[in-house]
Amino acid sequence: MLRYLRYLYYRALFPRSRDFLNMGMGIEARAERCAQTWLPHLRSSKDFQMRALSQLGHGSVASVLGAGRLLDIDADLLVAKFLETRLYDADPSSRRVALGKFPRGYAVNFTLTEISGVLDRWTQALDLFLRGEAFDLDKLAAFLRELRLGDAPILLAGSTHVFSVNLLSQIPIYWRDRAQALIEQRWGVVANEQGELTEPLQAALLASMARLQSGHLRLLNESGAHGLILIFDTDIEYYKNLEILLRQRLLLVSPESELKNFTPLYRDNWTWEVSPQGIEQSEYGVRHLVQALHLGKL
Ligand SMILES: C[S@@+](CC[C@H](N)C(=O)[O-])C[C@H]1O[C@@H](n2cnc3c(N)ncnc32)[C@H](O)[C@@H]1O
Repeated sequence: MLRYLRYLYYRALFPRSRDFLNMGMGIEARAERCAQTWLPHLRSSKDFQMRALSQLGHGSVASVLGAGRLLDIDADLLVAKFLETRLYDADPSSRRVALGKFPRGYAVNFTLTEISGVLDRWTQALDLFLRGEAFDLDKLAAFLRELRLGDAPILLAGSTHVFSVNLLSQIPIYWRDRAQALIEQRWGVVANEQGELTEPLQAALLASMARLQSGHLRLLNESGAHGLILIFDTDIEYYKNLEILLRQRLLLVSPESELKNFTPLYRDNWTWEVSPQGIEQSEYGVRHLVQALHLGKL
């Protein structure tokens, strides 16, 4: 039952495909279906950014990672506070929508990029491994543990403020879905009801997912920016009426301890009713627990 719930939820939001276009469309369609219940989340996210920038007279460059369609980011605030805005996202279909939210003449650009820089390389390496090696779960776990991050995929030099909006928790989910799909397809190893693989694979997969989150935080930490605005999901809850059926941890590292060049200035948290029971499915609902951090350079 839970396996099926996870399947339905993720196929709607994150289709098992390399195509970020599909993911973007999944988000857009869900945002429309759940417009009413998404409002408090989108408002909290924008209010947090407004409060974080309230002391800022005028910054020069804002870089927004995971900009998407700017659903949870206020383009007017960026225009009011920054001379230039640089948007980054892997979803090509979000470019036109995001750029369309800025007035003509404002200095804004959109870079289409996969922000971890390694998802395709890791996926290809895993596929080669699974096709070339005999079935051996210990060896596969060792392979997952040895996957390494590369150089920073994008340069944030010159950014006075960097925003990472709902991205930290997404990057490893994408990798996990690809990895689990390949392992199932090539070796027939299937995740259990809770979406977990058998040990020692599960621990090794989680370690690789945590490495991706550390890599994202390293990118932010070394950005040289004066300020960071980091909004991310810490957990996902599947519930039925008042009962929580399953809670999964999405935050696998500690942002505060990885962002050593910064000091926390302000934080907030709230719940995002992503797919409330009764709107998309009558049987269950899905919510994310969201955290927001504003950090300043030490
Ligand atoms: C949950 S959405 C956040 C919503 C987005 N801020 C908006 O307002 O539309 C996550 C965004 O991160 C992007 N994303 C996820 N993983 C990514 C990656 N590895 N590299 C670049 N963008 C990614 C998605 O394409 C999506 O636009």
